[in-house]
Amino acid sequence: MIDIHCHILHGVDDGASSLEEALEMARMAAFSGVTEIAATPHFRGEREFLEERALQESRYQELKEALERWKIPIRLHQGAEVLCLPQTVELAEMGELPTLGDTNYVLTEFYFDESFDFMDEILEQIALNGYRPVVAHPERYASVQREPRKLHRWAREGYVLQLNKGSILGALGSRAEAAAHELLALGLAHLIASDAHSSYTRTPHMSEVQRWAEDACDPECAEILLRENPKRLLQGRGMFGES
Ligand SMILES: [Fe+2]
Repeated sequence: MIDIHCHILHGVDDGASSLEEALEMARMAAFSGVTEIAATPHFRGEREFLEERALQESRYQELKEALERWKIPIRLHQGAEVLCLPQTVELAEMGELPTLGDTNYVLTEFYFDESFDFMDEILEQIALNGYRPVVAHPERYASVQREPRKLHRWAREGYVLQLNKGSILGALGSRAEAAAHELLALGLAHLIASDAHSSYTRTPHMSEVQRWAEDACDPECAEILLRENPKRLLQGRGMFGES
Protein backbone atom coordinates (compact mmCIF):
# COMPACT_ATOMS: atom_id res chain seq x y z
CA MET A 1 0.00 0.00 0.00
CA ILE A 2 0.96 3.64 -0.40
CA ASP A 3 0.06 6.17 2.29
CA ILE A 4 -0.14 9.75 1.04
CA HIS A 5 -1.08 11.40 4.35
CA CYS A 6 1.05 10.70 7.42
CA HIS A 7 2.47 12.91 10.18
CA ILE A 8 5.63 10.87 10.42
CA LEU A 9 8.21 13.69 10.53
CA HIS A 10 9.51 14.21 14.03
CA GLY A 11 9.20 17.39 16.04
CA VAL A 12 7.57 19.58 13.40
CA ASP A 13 3.89 19.24 14.34
CA ASP A 14 1.62 17.04 16.46
CA GLY A 15 2.92 13.88 14.77
CA ALA A 16 5.98 11.81 15.72
CA SER A 17 7.66 13.29 18.78
CA SER A 18 11.15 11.94 18.10
CA LEU A 19 13.21 10.29 15.37
CA GLU A 20 12.79 6.99 17.25
CA GLU A 21 9.02 7.30 17.10
CA ALA A 22 9.16 8.20 13.40
CA LEU A 23 11.20 5.04 12.77
CA GLU A 24 8.73 3.02 14.85
CA MET A 25 5.87 4.37 12.74
CA ALA A 26 7.76 3.44 9.58
CA ARG A 27 8.39 -0.11 10.85
CA MET A 28 4.72 -0.45 11.78
CA ALA A 29 3.59 0.78 8.37
CA ALA A 30 5.98 -1.57 6.57
CA PHE A 31 4.83 -4.51 8.71
CA SER A 32 1.22 -3.80 7.68
CA GLY A 33 2.06 -3.80 3.97
CA VAL A 34 2.88 -0.15 3.26
CA THR A 35 5.80 0.46 0.90
CA GLU A 36 5.69 4.25 0.38
CA ILE A 37 4.73 7.17 2.61
CA ALA A 38 4.30 10.85 1.86
CA ALA A 39 5.44 12.78 4.92
CA THR A 40 2.77 15.45 5.36
CA PRO A 41 3.37 17.71 8.36
CA HIS A 42 0.81 20.42 9.03
CA PHE A 43 1.58 23.64 7.18
CA ARG A 44 -0.37 26.79 7.94
CA GLY A 45 -1.19 28.19 4.52
CA GLU A 46 0.14 31.70 4.82
CA ARG A 47 3.30 33.48 3.78
CA GLU A 48 4.72 33.84 7.30
CA PHE A 49 4.93 30.07 7.64
CA LEU A 50 7.05 29.45 4.55
CA GLU A 51 10.11 29.66 6.82
CA GLU A 52 8.92 26.52 8.65
CA ARG A 53 9.40 24.52 5.50
CA ALA A 54 13.17 24.60 5.96
CA LEU A 55 12.88 22.74 9.26
CA GLN A 56 10.35 20.30 7.79
CA GLU A 57 12.69 19.63 4.87
CA SER A 58 15.67 19.00 7.13
CA ARG A 59 13.61 16.54 9.22
CA TYR A 60 12.56 14.85 6.00
CA GLN A 61 16.20 14.35 4.98
CA GLU A 62 17.10 13.13 8.46
CA LEU A 63 14.32 10.53 8.45
CA LYS A 64 15.09 9.44 4.89
CA GLU A 65 18.70 8.75 5.85
CA ALA A 66 17.68 6.93 9.04
CA LEU A 67 15.30 4.68 7.08
CA GLU A 68 18.20 3.69 4.84
CA ARG A 69 20.57 3.20 7.78
CA TRP A 70 18.10 0.93 9.59
CA LYS A 71 17.07 -0.78 6.34
CA ILE A 72 13.38 -0.08 6.84
CA PRO A 73 11.71 -0.74 3.47
CA ILE A 74 9.70 2.48 3.17
CA ARG A 75 10.16 4.90 0.31
CA LEU A 76 9.59 8.40 1.67
CA HIS A 77 8.15 11.33 -0.32
CA GLN A 78 8.01 15.02 0.51
CA GLY A 79 4.67 16.58 1.31
CA ALA A 80 2.61 18.76 3.59
CA GLU A 81 -0.98 19.14 4.74
CA VAL A 82 -1.91 22.72 4.01
CA LEU A 83 -4.40 24.36 6.36
CA CYS A 84 -6.41 26.55 4.02
CA LEU A 85 -7.11 30.13 5.09
CA PRO A 86 -8.09 33.20 3.06
CA GLN A 87 -4.34 34.02 2.85
CA THR A 88 -3.65 30.66 1.21
CA VAL A 89 -4.80 32.08 -2.12
CA GLU A 90 -1.79 34.43 -2.06
CA LEU A 91 0.56 31.46 -1.69
CA ALA A 92 -1.16 29.69 -4.57
CA GLU A 93 -0.74 32.80 -6.74
CA MET A 94 2.94 32.96 -5.79
CA GLY A 95 3.35 29.28 -6.75
CA GLU A 96 4.60 28.58 -3.23
CA LEU A 97 2.18 25.91 -2.04
CA PRO A 98 3.97 22.76 -0.85
CA THR A 99 2.97 19.79 -3.00
CA LEU A 100 3.01 16.02 -2.66
CA GLY A 101 6.32 14.86 -4.10
CA ASP A 102 7.20 16.52 -7.40
CA THR A 103 3.58 16.71 -8.50
CA ASN A 104 1.05 19.53 -8.64
CA TYR A 105 -1.18 17.76 -6.08
CA VAL A 106 -1.69 19.76 -2.87
CA LEU A 107 -3.04 18.07 0.25
CA THR A 108 -5.51 20.52 1.80
CA GLU A 109 -7.35 20.71 5.09
CA PHE A 110 -9.73 23.16 6.73
CA TYR A 111 -11.06 23.96 10.17
CA PHE A 112 -13.70 21.36 10.98
CA ASP A 113 -16.56 23.87 11.16
CA GLU A 114 -15.63 25.68 7.93
CA SER A 115 -18.54 26.42 5.57
CA PHE A 116 -18.87 24.51 2.35
CA ASP A 117 -18.84 27.79 0.39
CA PHE A 118 -15.51 28.87 1.88
CA MET A 119 -13.90 25.50 1.13
CA ASP A 120 -15.33 25.61 -2.37
CA GLU A 121 -13.92 29.09 -3.01
CA ILE A 122 -10.41 28.32 -1.73
CA LEU A 123 -10.18 25.01 -3.59
CA GLU A 124 -11.26 26.75 -6.77
CA GLN A 125 -8.55 29.40 -6.34
CA ILE A 126 -5.90 26.75 -5.69
CA ALA A 127 -6.95 24.89 -8.83
CA LEU A 128 -7.02 28.10 -10.89
CA ASN A 129 -3.35 28.58 -10.04
CA GLY A 130 -2.29 25.28 -11.56
CA TYR A 131 -2.50 22.95 -8.58
CA ARG A 132 -4.75 19.95 -8.17
CA PRO A 133 -6.32 19.89 -4.70
CA VAL A 134 -6.45 16.71 -2.68
CA VAL A 135 -9.11 17.17 0.00
CA ALA A 136 -7.93 15.45 3.17
CA HIS A 137 -10.67 13.76 5.22
CA PRO A 138 -13.76 15.53 3.79
CA GLU A 139 -15.87 13.19 5.97
CA ARG A 140 -14.64 15.02 9.08
CA TYR A 141 -16.21 18.37 8.15
CA ALA A 142 -19.63 19.21 9.61
CA SER A 143 -20.83 20.76 6.34
CA VAL A 144 -19.93 17.61 4.40
CA GLN A 145 -21.48 15.37 7.06
CA ARG A 146 -24.74 17.28 6.59
CA GLU A 147 -24.69 17.10 2.79
CA PRO A 148 -22.19 14.53 1.47
CA ARG A 149 -23.73 14.63 -2.00
CA LYS A 150 -22.34 18.13 -2.47
CA LEU A 151 -18.98 16.47 -3.08
CA HIS A 152 -20.19 15.35 -6.51
CA ARG A 153 -19.32 18.92 -7.48
CA TRP A 154 -15.76 18.63 -6.12
CA ALA A 155 -15.25 15.34 -7.90
CA ARG A 156 -16.45 16.94 -11.14
CA GLU A 157 -14.00 19.81 -10.62
CA GLY A 158 -11.20 17.24 -10.45
CA TYR A 159 -10.44 17.47 -6.74
CA VAL A 160 -9.12 14.25 -5.24
CA LEU A 161 -11.04 13.04 -2.19
CA GLN A 162 -9.02 11.26 0.51
CA LEU A 163 -10.73 9.43 3.37
CA ASN A 164 -9.05 8.69 6.70
CA LYS A 165 -8.72 5.09 7.80
CA GLY A 166 -9.75 6.18 11.33
CA SER A 167 -13.04 7.59 10.04
CA ILE A 168 -13.83 4.41 8.15
CA LEU A 169 -13.07 2.24 11.17
CA GLY A 170 -15.13 4.41 13.54
CA ALA A 171 -12.21 5.79 15.56
CA LEU A 172 -12.96 9.43 14.74
CA GLY A 173 -16.61 9.56 15.80
CA SER A 174 -19.89 8.22 14.49
CA ARG A 175 -20.56 11.21 12.22
CA ALA A 176 -17.23 10.89 10.43
CA GLU A 177 -17.76 7.13 10.17
CA ALA A 178 -21.25 7.51 8.65
CA ALA A 179 -20.06 10.20 6.22
CA ALA A 180 -17.03 8.14 5.16
CA HIS A 181 -19.20 5.13 4.43
CA GLU A 182 -21.71 7.24 2.53
CA LEU A 183 -18.99 8.88 0.40
CA LEU A 184 -17.64 5.43 -0.46
CA ALA A 185 -21.15 4.24 -1.39
CA LEU A 186 -21.62 7.34 -3.58
CA GLY A 187 -18.33 6.68 -5.36
CA LEU A 188 -16.94 9.93 -3.92
CA ALA A 189 -13.63 8.63 -2.57
CA HIS A 190 -10.45 8.30 -4.58
CA LEU A 191 -8.16 7.00 -1.88
CA ILE A 192 -7.69 6.09 1.76
CA ALA A 193 -4.75 7.23 3.89
CA SER A 194 -3.72 6.81 7.51
CA ASP A 195 -3.45 10.46 8.66
CA ALA A 196 -1.28 8.81 11.32
CA HIS A 197 0.04 10.89 14.19
CA SER A 198 1.90 8.36 16.34
CA SER A 199 2.89 4.74 16.88
CA TYR A 200 0.27 4.09 19.60
CA THR A 201 -2.88 5.97 18.59
CA ARG A 202 -3.92 7.06 15.08
CA THR A 203 -1.16 4.79 13.78
CA PRO A 204 0.14 4.13 10.24
CA HIS A 205 -0.85 0.44 10.48
CA MET A 206 -3.03 -0.15 7.43
CA SER A 207 -4.00 -3.83 7.31
CA GLU A 208 -7.25 -3.45 9.25
CA VAL A 209 -8.65 -0.84 6.87
CA GLN A 210 -7.39 -2.91 3.93
CA ARG A 211 -9.42 -5.90 5.19
CA TRP A 212 -12.42 -3.62 5.73
CA ALA A 213 -12.21 -2.29 2.17
CA GLU A 214 -11.81 -5.76 0.70
CA ASP A 215 -14.94 -6.94 2.55
CA ALA A 216 -17.18 -3.88 2.35
CA CYS A 217 -16.19 -2.85 -1.14
CA ASP A 218 -14.36 -5.60 -3.04
CA PRO A 219 -10.70 -6.53 -3.59
CA GLU A 220 -10.41 -4.50 -6.80
CA CYS A 221 -11.89 -1.40 -5.19
CA ALA A 222 -9.58 -1.82 -2.17
CA GLU A 223 -6.64 -2.05 -4.56
CA ILE A 224 -7.64 1.21 -6.26
CA LEU A 225 -8.18 3.07 -2.97
CA LEU A 226 -5.05 1.87 -1.22
CA ARG A 227 -2.52 1.23 -3.98
CA GLU A 228 -3.45 2.28 -7.50
CA ASN A 229 -4.66 5.83 -6.89
CA PRO A 230 -2.02 6.72 -4.28
CA LYS A 231 0.62 5.44 -6.72
CA ARG A 232 -0.83 7.46 -9.59
CA LEU A 233 -0.96 10.53 -7.38
CA LEU A 234 2.71 10.37 -6.39
CA GLN A 235 3.62 9.85 -10.05
CA GLY A 236 1.67 13.00 -10.94
CA ARG A 237 -0.82 11.04 -13.04
CA GLY A 238 -4.63 11.20 -13.06
CA MET A 239 -6.79 8.99 -10.91
CA PHE A 240 -7.98 5.55 -12.03
CA GLY A 241 -10.54 5.87 -14.80
CA GLU A 242 -9.51 9.37 -15.86
CA SER A 243 -8.32 9.84 -19.39
FE1 LIG B 1 -3.43 15.14 8.80
